[in-house]
Amino acid sequence: MIQIIRTKDYEEMSRKAANIIAAQITLKKNSVLGLATGSTPVGLYRCLVEGYNKGDLDFSQVRSVNLDEYQGLSREHDQSYFYFMNDNLFKHVNIDTAETYLPDGTNMDAEGECSRYHEVIASMGGVDLQLLGIGNNGHIGFNEPDDYFPENTHCVRLTDSTIQANARFFASEAEVPRYAYTMGIGEIMAARRILILASGKAKAPIIKEMLTGPVRPQVPASILRFHKKVTLVADEEALSLL
Ligand code: PGA
Repeated sequence: MIQIIRTKDYEEMSRKAANIIAAQITLKKNSVLGLATGSTPVGLYRCLVEGYNKGDLDFSQVRSVNLDEYQGLSREHDQSYFYFMNDNLFKHVNIDTAETYLPDGTNMDAEGECSRYHEVIASMGGVDLQLLGIGNNGHIGFNEPDDYFPENTHCVRLTDSTIQANARFFASEAEVPRYAYTMGIGEIMAARRILILASGKAKAPIIKEMLTGPVRPQVPASILRFHKKVTLVADEEALSLL
């Protein structure tokens, strides 16, 4: 069951989504947040930083696990998701960075890194609220369209469409890493609550497919319809084909 919150534009989507996360960490100070990267949540993180600066939000007991990380990028690389999280949220608020977790992109032992990260997630005692974006191809985290739903953290070969979509952040398409570590669909679905964001016309076809097409691993986000507590905050453009 997906609850839909329709907003006028990106700014309103960001504010409404930030309010949901703010409520979560106000009601439960030691929440475990599942966090996401990409263009979509940047405004939401900005709102959370504003809330913190106003004295409304306290992250001191919050712990976090991120969805994914590129394989092969160091933490200092400005396109690593470690760098993104620091730059957009962690360094601006009073979160204990020792309690913020991402897959380690520099660990080239894929099997070892995936099982280590699975244990990290398991040790958190469950994710209270998992934030998600959605790829143009329906991916959540880096769970690309496939013929099955991967359960746990795994190493994925990014699809050509994802590499093209993410090339805008790199000097050239050739520099986009080909592999990433991502939480699996089973780990994402185990979150107590899921908040998914979408903005802009480019996302309209996949939002329609996610909400109205068959639930199938070729559209990874469609599985969210089988979760009990999902909120989609999307702007008019992203909802324009419904
Ligand atoms: P975007 O990416 O927020 O940059 O559109 C979403 C995603 O790939 O999950």
